[in-house]
Amino acid sequence: MNPASLIPLAEPLPIPWAWFDILLIVTFAAHILFMNALLGSAAIGLFHALRGKHGIAHDAGQKLPPLLALTINLGVAPLLFLQVNYGHFDYVSSVLMGGWWLAVIPALLVSYYGFYTYKFGFDAMSAGKRNLLYLISVAGLLYVGFMLTNNTTLMLIPEAWTQYFDNASGFLNWGDPTLFPRFLHFMVGALAIGGLFIALLGEVRENDEYIDTGMKWFTHATLLNLVIGVWFLISLPREIMLGFMGNSLPATLTLMASLVSAAIMLMAGFNKRPKQTAVWAVLTVFFMACTRHWVRTLFLEPWYRMETTPVTHQYGSFYLFLGFLIAGSILVAYMLKLYFKSRQRRA
Ligand code: HEM
Repeated sequence: MNPASLIPLAEPLPIPWAWFDILLIVTFAAHILFMNALLGSAAIGLFHALRGKHGIAHDAGQKLPPLLALTINLGVAPLLFLQVNYGHFDYVSSVLMGGWWLAVIPALLVSYYGFYTYKFGFDAMSAGKRNLLYLISVAGLLYVGFMLTNNTTLMLIPEAWTQYFDNASGFLNWGDPTLFPRFLHFMVGALAIGGLFIALLGEVRENDEYIDTGMKWFTHATLLNLVIGVWFLISLPREIMLGFMGNSLPATLTLMASLVSAAIMLMAGFNKRPKQTAVWAVLTVFFMACTRHWVRTLFLEPWYRMETTPVTHQYGSFYLFLGFLIAGSILVAYMLKLYFKSRQRRA
């Protein structure tokens, strides 16, 4: 069977596709930054709690329910833009995963309630119960992340979709050599940014122990991630890997920008400057999100080119969207200003 026959027809777009790709990359980077702070600080908190030190777990635990809510909200935006440009790949991979994909929602609910119970029931629970709850909640997040990597890799390889005819009850992308390095790259990145989040918490609270511990996690995890990044690069099909080594100019340039930014970020990390590190971390995640975009483009090239998508040039809904985006951002900034003012007054 020709796998190309399994790819649905692309719908026409109201405005050029590049707008949706830009919005996808920007919102995805925001989603990943919040996911990293959430999963990374939770995992580090759990690690320390299991060794009998509950300080970080308790303090990070206070931030986990809002961080989870923000991660989910910031996940909706890239999901929508992804479906606009790549829906004919992403919908198929979601359906092929079947129950594995649908179980993401119960897993999220378990983690959400787990973190809420942890936050509000901290004093009422024994250390053992607390650790178990934390462990289950972190496992739920790991499940969600793994399913997302399965989905975003399966969507890129229509040749693997024919497995459906042998296993119609839903399957994961086990045969893909990029699956584990890609997932680990995200998870170890989460540990780094989670550490940075704890260091920033330490800076706000003038707690040197948190700054030291957080920056140690940050630098160690980032060094490890350089190795995993190389593993990810060499696990890519040869022609795609060569795209990042000069064959594709935009792909090579974004990878180089990511590496330069990561090097400066790491230096700021070794110098224990959490705020400066955070600025470079945001830039690095953004460049990495651009690099990941070229991975997708190069994988899909044999099957589909975005430039061939029909465009109807109906700009009305786009202007409406931009208007709401600007008005919404101003309102959110105003709300945050009021919130911080009231906190200052209470303090
Ligand atoms: C809170 C738990 C979550 C975790 C740990 C998580 C983690 C991840 C990870 C690791 C990726 C990258 C996968 C890869 O490229 O290999 C990812 C991508 C993505 N996530 Fe999340 N995520 C979470 C929740 C959500 C939710 C609730 C949504 C949607 C409402 C969402 C939407 C997305 C989308 C659309 C992408 C892919 C974007 C693209 O391919 O450009 N995520 N997430």
